[in-house]
Amino acid sequence: MNIALLGFGTIGSGVYELINLNKGKFESNFTDLATQKSRPAITKILERDITKDLGDSVGVIVTDPKEILEDDSIGIVIALMGGMDFEYEMIKACLKAGKHVVTANKAVISEYFAELQALAKENGVVLRYEASVGGGIPIIGTLKEEMRINRVTEIKGILNGTTNFILSKMTEEMAGFEDTLALAQSIGFAEADPTADVEGYDVSRKLSILSSMAYEGIVRDEDVYKRGITDIGAMDIEMTKSLGYVVKFLGHSILDGKRDVYTTVEPVLFKAASIMSNVNSEFNIISITGDIIGELQFYGKGAGKDATANAVVGDVLYILNIVGEQNLPRPLRLNRKLNKLGTGIFKGKYYLRANLNDKESLDQVLSALETVASRKTVIVNDNHVYVVTSVIAANEFNAMAEKLRETVPEFFYARIYE
Ligand code: HSE
Repeated sequence: MNIALLGFGTIGSGVYELINLNKGKFESNFTDLATQKSRPAITKILERDITKDLGDSVGVIVTDPKEILEDDSIGIVIALMGGMDFEYEMIKACLKAGKHVVTANKAVISEYFAELQALAKENGVVLRYEASVGGGIPIIGTLKEEMRINRVTEIKGILNGTTNFILSKMTEEMAGFEDTLALAQSIGFAEADPTADVEGYDVSRKLSILSSMAYEGIVRDEDVYKRGITDIGAMDIEMTKSLGYVVKFLGHSILDGKRDVYTTVEPVLFKAASIMSNVNSEFNIISITGDIIGELQFYGKGAGKDATANAVVGDVLYILNIVGEQNLPRPLRLNRKLNKLGTGIFKGKYYLRANLNDKESLDQVLSALETVASRKTVIVNDNHVYVVTSVIAANEFNAMAEKLRETVPEFFYARIYE
Protein backbone atom coordinates (compact mmCIF):
# COMPACT_ATOMS: atom_id res chain seq x y z
CA MET A 1 0.00 0.00 0.00
CA ASN A 2 1.36 3.43 -0.94
CA ILE A 3 1.16 6.56 1.15
CA ALA A 4 0.62 10.19 0.13
CA LEU A 5 1.62 13.23 2.12
CA LEU A 6 -0.25 16.53 2.05
CA GLY A 7 2.21 19.26 3.00
CA PHE A 8 5.97 19.22 3.32
CA GLY A 9 6.57 21.55 6.24
CA THR A 10 8.42 20.77 9.46
CA ILE A 11 6.33 17.72 10.41
CA GLY A 12 5.90 16.54 6.80
CA SER A 13 9.63 16.41 6.26
CA GLY A 14 10.03 14.57 9.59
CA VAL A 15 7.49 11.96 8.48
CA TYR A 16 9.24 11.59 5.12
CA GLU A 17 12.53 10.94 6.89
CA LEU A 18 10.99 8.27 9.13
CA ILE A 19 9.10 6.44 6.38
CA ASN A 20 11.09 6.88 3.19
CA LEU A 21 14.59 7.56 4.48
CA ASN A 22 14.25 5.01 7.30
CA LYS A 23 15.47 7.27 10.07
CA GLY A 24 14.38 5.16 13.05
CA LYS A 25 13.03 1.59 12.72
CA PHE A 26 10.05 1.91 10.36
CA GLU A 27 11.43 -0.64 7.93
CA SER A 28 11.88 -3.29 10.61
CA ASN A 29 8.09 -3.63 10.77
CA PHE A 30 8.14 -5.14 7.28
CA THR A 31 11.18 -7.35 7.30
CA ASP A 32 9.38 -10.37 8.70
CA LEU A 33 8.89 -12.49 5.61
CA ALA A 34 6.22 -14.54 7.36
CA THR A 35 3.87 -11.55 7.24
CA GLN A 36 4.43 -11.15 3.51
CA LYS A 37 3.82 -7.44 3.81
CA SER A 38 5.63 -5.24 1.31
CA ARG A 39 7.30 -2.12 2.65
CA PRO A 40 4.99 0.88 2.21
CA ALA A 41 6.42 4.24 1.16
CA ILE A 42 5.38 7.80 0.46
CA THR A 43 5.00 7.94 -3.29
CA LYS A 44 3.41 11.37 -3.70
CA ILE A 45 3.60 14.66 -1.81
CA LEU A 46 1.11 17.44 -2.43
CA GLU A 47 2.94 20.71 -1.91
CA ARG A 48 1.82 23.99 -3.34
CA ASP A 49 5.03 25.86 -2.54
CA ILE A 50 7.40 24.33 -5.06
CA THR A 51 10.07 26.92 -4.22
CA LYS A 52 10.57 25.11 -0.90
CA ASP A 53 13.72 23.08 -0.33
CA LEU A 54 12.32 19.60 -0.84
CA GLY A 55 15.56 17.73 -0.26
CA ASP A 56 15.32 14.03 -1.13
CA SER A 57 11.60 14.17 -1.87
CA VAL A 58 12.12 15.68 -5.33
CA GLY A 59 10.52 13.39 -7.84
CA VAL A 60 7.35 12.67 -5.85
CA ILE A 61 5.98 16.21 -5.60
CA VAL A 62 2.54 16.83 -7.12
CA THR A 63 0.56 20.05 -7.19
CA ASP A 64 -2.84 18.72 -8.30
CA PRO A 65 -4.91 16.98 -5.54
CA LYS A 66 -6.44 14.65 -8.18
CA GLU A 67 -3.05 12.98 -8.57
CA ILE A 68 -3.60 11.61 -5.08
CA LEU A 69 -7.38 11.28 -4.94
CA GLU A 70 -7.52 9.29 -8.20
CA ASP A 71 -4.46 7.14 -7.54
CA ASP A 72 -5.72 3.70 -6.47
CA SER A 73 -2.30 2.62 -5.30
CA ILE A 74 -2.51 5.17 -2.46
CA GLY A 75 -4.28 3.71 0.57
CA ILE A 76 -3.20 6.13 3.30
CA VAL A 77 -3.11 9.92 3.13
CA ILE A 78 -1.20 11.89 5.78
CA ALA A 79 -2.68 15.40 6.02
CA LEU A 80 -0.16 17.87 7.44
CA MET A 81 -0.86 21.10 5.58
CA GLY A 82 -2.39 22.95 8.52
CA GLY A 83 -5.00 25.66 8.08
CA MET A 84 -8.70 24.87 7.86
CA ASP A 85 -10.72 24.82 4.64
CA PHE A 86 -8.40 23.20 2.13
CA GLU A 87 -7.24 20.46 4.49
CA TYR A 88 -10.82 19.80 5.63
CA GLU A 89 -11.96 19.39 2.01
CA MET A 90 -8.99 17.16 1.23
CA ILE A 91 -9.58 14.94 4.28
CA LYS A 92 -13.24 14.56 3.31
CA ALA A 93 -12.38 13.79 -0.30
CA CYS A 94 -9.77 11.20 0.75
CA LEU A 95 -12.18 9.43 3.12
CA LYS A 96 -14.85 9.40 0.41
CA ALA A 97 -12.30 7.97 -2.00
CA GLY A 98 -11.79 5.07 0.44
CA LYS A 99 -8.40 6.18 1.72
CA HIS A 100 -7.39 6.01 5.39
CA VAL A 101 -6.39 9.42 6.76
CA VAL A 102 -3.82 10.37 9.40
CA THR A 103 -3.66 14.01 10.41
CA ALA A 104 -2.09 16.37 12.96
CA ASN A 105 -4.62 19.10 12.14
CA LYS A 106 -6.31 19.98 15.45
CA ALA A 107 -8.28 22.84 13.90
CA VAL A 108 -10.00 20.49 11.44
CA ILE A 109 -10.52 17.64 13.93
CA SER A 110 -11.91 19.88 16.68
CA GLU A 111 -14.29 21.61 14.26
CA TYR A 112 -15.51 18.58 12.26
CA PHE A 113 -14.88 15.71 14.68
CA ALA A 114 -18.24 13.91 14.52
CA GLU A 115 -18.72 14.48 10.78
CA LEU A 116 -15.28 13.15 9.83
CA GLN A 117 -15.54 10.17 12.14
CA ALA A 118 -18.92 9.28 10.61
CA LEU A 119 -17.56 9.73 7.09
CA ALA A 120 -14.66 7.38 7.82
CA LYS A 121 -17.05 4.73 9.11
CA GLU A 122 -19.38 5.10 6.12
CA ASN A 123 -16.48 4.52 3.78
CA GLY A 124 -14.95 1.64 5.73
CA VAL A 125 -11.71 3.47 6.47
CA VAL A 126 -9.91 4.84 9.52
CA LEU A 127 -9.24 8.42 10.60
CA ARG A 128 -6.34 8.83 13.06
CA TYR A 129 -5.20 12.05 14.74
CA GLU A 130 -2.74 11.13 17.49
CA ALA A 131 -0.41 14.00 16.56
CA SER A 132 -3.17 16.59 16.87
CA VAL A 133 -2.77 16.73 20.68
CA GLY A 134 0.40 16.68 22.76
CA GLY A 135 2.93 16.21 19.90
CA GLY A 136 4.76 12.98 20.69
CA ILE A 137 2.71 12.07 23.79
CA PRO A 138 0.43 9.11 22.90
CA ILE A 139 -2.59 10.66 24.62
CA ILE A 140 -5.35 9.97 22.09
CA GLY A 141 -4.77 6.22 22.02
CA THR A 142 -4.30 6.12 25.79
CA LEU A 143 -7.48 8.08 26.46
CA LYS A 144 -9.43 5.67 24.22
CA GLU A 145 -7.98 2.73 26.17
CA GLU A 146 -8.74 4.23 29.58
CA MET A 147 -12.30 5.02 28.51
CA ARG A 148 -13.00 1.32 28.02
CA ILE A 149 -13.03 1.05 31.82
CA ASN A 150 -13.23 4.58 33.24
CA ARG A 151 -15.62 7.46 33.25
CA VAL A 152 -13.25 10.37 32.65
CA THR A 153 -14.27 13.55 34.49
CA GLU A 154 -11.31 15.91 34.23
CA ILE A 155 -8.57 16.81 31.78
CA LYS A 156 -5.89 19.37 32.40
CA GLY A 157 -2.50 20.18 31.11
CA ILE A 158 0.17 22.23 29.48
CA LEU A 159 -0.80 21.60 25.89
CA ASN A 160 1.21 24.09 23.86
CA GLY A 161 4.95 23.78 23.29
CA THR A 162 5.45 27.28 21.92
CA THR A 163 3.98 29.14 24.89
CA ASN A 164 5.64 26.81 27.40
CA PHE A 165 8.95 27.44 25.63
CA ILE A 166 8.35 31.21 25.83
CA LEU A 167 7.31 31.17 29.50
CA SER A 168 10.22 28.89 30.44
CA LYS A 169 12.79 31.11 28.69
CA MET A 170 11.26 34.23 30.24
CA THR A 171 11.44 32.59 33.69
CA GLU A 172 14.86 30.96 33.43
CA GLU A 173 16.78 33.45 31.29
CA MET A 174 14.73 36.65 31.59
CA ALA A 175 14.37 36.44 27.78
CA GLY A 176 11.93 38.78 25.96
CA PHE A 177 8.55 37.59 24.70
CA GLU A 178 8.95 38.55 21.03
CA ASP A 179 12.51 37.21 20.65
CA THR A 180 11.56 33.88 22.20
CA LEU A 181 8.47 33.58 20.02
CA ALA A 182 10.66 34.18 16.93
CA LEU A 183 13.02 31.44 18.18
CA ALA A 184 10.07 29.03 18.68
CA GLN A 185 8.97 29.76 15.11
CA SER A 186 12.44 29.13 13.70
CA ILE A 187 12.73 25.77 15.52
CA GLY A 188 9.32 24.74 14.13
CA PHE A 189 7.30 24.64 17.36
CA ALA A 190 4.93 27.49 16.51
CA GLU A 191 1.96 27.33 14.15
CA ALA A 192 2.23 29.04 10.73
CA ASP A 193 0.27 31.86 12.34
CA PRO A 194 1.59 31.91 15.93
CA THR A 195 -1.46 33.91 17.08
CA ALA A 196 -3.09 30.50 17.55
CA ASP A 197 -0.34 29.57 20.02
CA VAL A 198 -0.11 32.77 22.06
CA GLU A 199 -3.84 33.61 22.10
CA GLY A 200 -4.88 30.13 23.22
CA TYR A 201 -6.63 28.77 20.10
CA ASP A 202 -4.15 25.94 19.71
CA VAL A 203 -4.76 24.84 23.31
CA SER A 204 -8.53 25.24 23.10
CA ARG A 205 -8.63 23.07 19.98
CA LYS A 206 -6.60 20.37 21.71
CA LEU A 207 -8.75 20.64 24.83
CA SER A 208 -11.86 20.46 22.67
CA ILE A 209 -10.68 17.18 21.08
CA LEU A 210 -9.76 15.56 24.41
CA SER A 211 -12.94 16.78 26.12
CA SER A 212 -15.21 15.60 23.28
CA MET A 213 -13.59 12.17 23.45
CA ALA A 214 -13.66 11.95 27.24
CA TYR A 215 -17.16 13.31 27.83
CA GLU A 216 -18.62 11.55 24.76
CA GLY A 217 -20.23 14.65 23.27
CA ILE A 218 -18.96 17.50 21.16
CA VAL A 219 -17.15 20.32 22.95
CA ARG A 220 -16.25 22.86 20.28
CA ASP A 221 -13.29 25.21 20.27
CA GLU A 222 -15.80 28.09 20.48
CA ASP A 223 -17.27 26.58 23.68
CA VAL A 224 -13.92 26.95 25.42
CA TYR A 225 -13.10 30.15 27.34
CA LYS A 226 -9.63 31.27 26.30
CA ARG A 227 -7.22 34.02 27.24
CA GLY A 228 -3.69 34.15 25.88
CA ILE A 229 -0.32 35.15 27.31
CA THR A 230 0.49 38.24 25.26
CA ASP A 231 -0.04 40.66 28.18
CA ILE A 232 2.66 39.11 30.33
CA GLY A 233 5.77 41.18 31.06
CA ALA A 234 9.17 40.58 32.67
CA MET A 235 7.85 42.30 35.84
CA ASP A 236 5.14 39.61 36.16
CA ILE A 237 7.70 36.84 35.94
CA GLU A 238 9.81 38.55 38.60
CA MET A 239 6.94 39.38 40.94
CA THR A 240 5.25 35.96 40.74
CA LYS A 241 8.63 34.27 41.25
CA SER A 242 9.19 36.33 44.41
CA LEU A 243 5.74 35.18 45.60
CA GLY A 244 6.80 31.54 45.09
CA TYR A 245 4.91 30.80 41.87
CA VAL A 246 5.60 29.90 38.23
CA VAL A 247 3.37 31.09 35.36
CA LYS A 248 2.06 28.32 33.12
CA PHE A 249 -0.49 28.29 30.30
CA LEU A 250 -3.14 25.78 31.32
CA GLY A 251 -5.99 24.07 29.50
CA HIS A 252 -8.52 22.55 31.89
CA SER A 253 -11.93 20.93 31.53
CA ILE A 254 -14.24 19.30 34.07
CA LEU A 255 -17.36 17.17 33.60
CA ASP A 256 -19.63 17.89 36.57
CA GLY A 257 -22.43 15.36 36.95
CA LYS A 258 -23.54 13.72 33.70
CA ARG A 259 -23.62 16.66 31.29
CA ASP A 260 -22.23 19.89 32.71
CA VAL A 261 -18.88 20.78 31.17
CA TYR A 262 -16.63 23.64 32.29
CA THR A 263 -13.58 24.63 30.26
CA THR A 264 -10.83 27.21 30.45
CA VAL A 265 -7.55 28.06 28.74
CA GLU A 266 -5.61 30.73 30.62
CA PRO A 267 -2.37 31.65 32.34
CA VAL A 268 -2.29 30.13 35.82
CA LEU A 269 0.20 30.37 38.70
CA PHE A 270 1.46 27.11 40.17
CA LYS A 271 3.51 26.74 43.35
CA ALA A 272 7.17 26.55 42.31
CA ALA A 273 7.53 22.98 43.63
CA SER A 274 4.51 21.56 41.76
CA ILE A 275 4.88 19.10 38.88
CA MET A 276 3.31 21.56 36.42
CA SER A 277 5.88 24.25 37.31
CA ASN A 278 8.66 21.89 36.39
CA VAL A 279 7.43 21.08 32.89
CA ASN A 280 9.62 23.32 30.77
CA SER A 281 10.54 24.28 27.22
CA GLU A 282 8.52 22.55 24.48
CA PHE A 283 7.46 19.75 26.84
CA ASN A 284 3.76 19.17 27.55
CA ILE A 285 2.02 17.43 30.41
CA ILE A 286 -1.50 16.03 30.22
CA SER A 287 -3.46 14.77 33.21
CA ILE A 288 -6.65 12.75 32.92
CA THR A 289 -8.80 11.67 35.85
CA GLY A 290 -10.92 8.54 35.67
CA ASP A 291 -13.30 7.21 38.30
CA ILE A 292 -11.47 3.88 38.52
CA ILE A 293 -7.84 4.71 37.78
CA GLY A 294 -7.69 8.13 39.51
CA GLU A 295 -5.32 10.73 38.06
CA LEU A 296 -2.84 9.78 35.35
CA GLN A 297 -0.21 12.17 33.99
CA PHE A 298 1.58 11.99 30.67
CA TYR A 299 4.73 13.95 29.91
CA GLY A 300 6.76 14.41 26.75
CA LYS A 301 7.65 16.66 23.85
CA GLY A 302 4.51 18.49 22.78
CA ALA A 303 5.91 20.13 19.67
CA GLY A 304 8.74 19.75 17.20
CA LYS A 305 9.56 17.77 14.10
CA ASP A 306 10.68 14.36 15.37
CA ALA A 307 8.26 13.97 18.29
CA THR A 308 5.24 14.91 16.18
CA ALA A 309 6.39 12.86 13.17
CA ASN A 310 6.75 9.90 15.57
CA ALA A 311 3.06 10.19 16.51
CA VAL A 312 2.02 10.46 12.85
CA VAL A 313 4.02 7.40 11.82
CA GLY A 314 2.60 5.49 14.80
CA ASP A 315 -0.86 6.08 13.34
CA VAL A 316 0.34 4.93 9.91
CA LEU A 317 1.66 1.70 11.43
CA TYR A 318 -1.61 1.20 13.30
CA ILE A 319 -3.51 1.38 10.01
CA LEU A 320 -1.06 -0.88 8.19
CA ASN A 321 -1.56 -3.48 10.91
CA ILE A 322 -5.34 -3.53 10.65
CA VAL A 323 -5.62 -3.41 6.85
CA GLY A 324 -7.61 -6.38 5.66
CA GLU A 325 -9.26 -6.97 9.02
CA GLN A 326 -13.02 -7.38 8.89
CA ASN A 327 -13.84 -5.34 11.96
CA LEU A 328 -12.58 -1.79 11.92
CA PRO A 329 -12.30 -0.13 15.35
CA ARG A 330 -15.59 1.02 16.84
CA PRO A 331 -16.08 4.82 16.43
CA LEU A 332 -16.08 6.96 19.56
CA ARG A 333 -19.36 8.01 21.08
CA LEU A 334 -19.70 11.75 20.41
CA ASN A 335 -23.45 12.31 20.66
CA ARG A 336 -24.06 12.95 24.36
CA LYS A 337 -25.81 16.30 24.81
CA LEU A 338 -23.49 18.38 26.98
CA ASN A 339 -24.18 21.71 28.67
CA LYS A 340 -21.23 24.04 28.12
CA LEU A 341 -21.26 26.21 31.20
CA GLY A 342 -18.19 28.46 30.95
CA THR A 343 -15.62 28.82 33.73
CA GLY A 344 -17.73 29.10 36.91
CA ILE A 345 -16.39 25.91 38.51
CA PHE A 346 -12.79 27.21 38.55
CA LYS A 347 -11.88 29.32 41.57
CA GLY A 348 -8.77 30.78 43.15
CA LYS A 349 -6.90 33.76 44.44
CA TYR A 350 -5.83 36.07 41.63
CA TYR A 351 -2.59 37.88 40.84
CA LEU A 352 -3.02 41.11 38.84
CA ARG A 353 -0.48 43.68 37.65
CA ALA A 354 -1.62 46.91 36.00
CA ASN A 355 0.36 49.75 34.46
CA LEU A 356 -0.52 53.09 36.03
CA ASN A 357 -0.34 55.38 33.01
CA ASP A 358 -2.37 58.23 34.52
CA LYS A 359 -3.39 59.33 37.97
CA GLU A 360 -6.89 57.81 37.76
CA SER A 361 -5.65 54.29 36.95
CA LEU A 362 -4.90 53.18 40.52
CA ASP A 363 -8.40 54.12 41.70
CA GLN A 364 -9.97 52.47 38.67
CA VAL A 365 -8.10 49.20 39.30
CA LEU A 366 -8.89 49.16 43.02
CA SER A 367 -12.58 50.01 42.56
CA ALA A 368 -12.97 47.31 39.92
CA LEU A 369 -11.36 44.77 42.25
CA GLU A 370 -13.57 45.95 45.08
CA THR A 371 -16.59 44.58 43.18
CA VAL A 372 -15.25 40.99 43.30
CA ALA A 373 -12.58 40.68 46.01
CA SER A 374 -13.39 41.04 49.69
CA ARG A 375 -9.71 41.07 50.67
CA LYS A 376 -6.53 41.85 48.77
CA THR A 377 -2.86 42.68 49.16
CA VAL A 378 -1.73 45.70 47.15
CA ILE A 379 1.81 46.82 46.26
CA VAL A 380 2.48 49.98 44.21
CA ASN A 381 5.92 50.24 42.66
CA ASP A 382 7.42 52.02 39.60
CA ASN A 383 4.12 52.97 37.94
CA HIS A 384 2.73 49.46 38.43
CA VAL A 385 0.22 48.14 40.90
CA TYR A 386 0.44 44.48 41.93
CA VAL A 387 -2.52 42.84 43.66
CA VAL A 388 -3.17 39.39 45.13
CA THR A 389 -6.85 38.84 45.92
CA SER A 390 -8.88 36.48 48.09
CA VAL A 391 -10.56 33.49 46.39
CA ILE A 392 -12.86 34.45 43.50
CA ALA A 393 -14.74 32.39 40.89
CA ALA A 394 -13.07 32.59 37.46
CA ASN A 395 -16.21 33.77 35.64
CA GLU A 396 -16.56 36.73 38.05
CA PHE A 397 -12.93 37.74 37.79
CA ASN A 398 -12.89 37.41 33.99
CA ALA A 399 -16.01 39.59 33.65
CA MET A 400 -14.53 42.23 35.96
CA ALA A 401 -11.24 42.21 34.00
CA GLU A 402 -13.03 42.62 30.68
CA LYS A 403 -14.78 45.70 32.02
CA LEU A 404 -11.59 47.10 33.56
CA ARG A 405 -9.87 46.83 30.16
CA GLU A 406 -12.14 49.66 28.90
CA THR A 407 -10.47 52.17 31.25
CA VAL A 408 -7.11 50.59 32.15
CA PRO A 409 -5.90 48.81 29.02
CA GLU A 410 -2.53 47.47 30.16
CA PHE A 411 -2.65 44.69 32.71
CA PHE A 412 -1.93 41.00 33.18
CA TYR A 413 -3.65 38.62 35.54
CA ALA A 414 -3.54 34.93 36.40
CA ARG A 415 -5.44 32.67 38.75
CA ILE A 416 -3.42 31.00 41.49
CA TYR A 417 -3.99 27.26 41.15
CA GLU A 418 -5.24 25.68 44.35
N1 HSE B 1 2.20 24.94 17.76
C1 HSE B 1 1.98 23.75 18.52
C2 HSE B 1 2.65 23.90 19.86
C3 HSE B 1 2.50 22.58 17.77
O1 HSE B 1 3.49 24.80 20.01
O2 HSE B 1 2.36 23.12 20.76
C4 HSE B 1 2.16 21.24 18.35
O3 HSE B 1 0.77 21.02 18.37
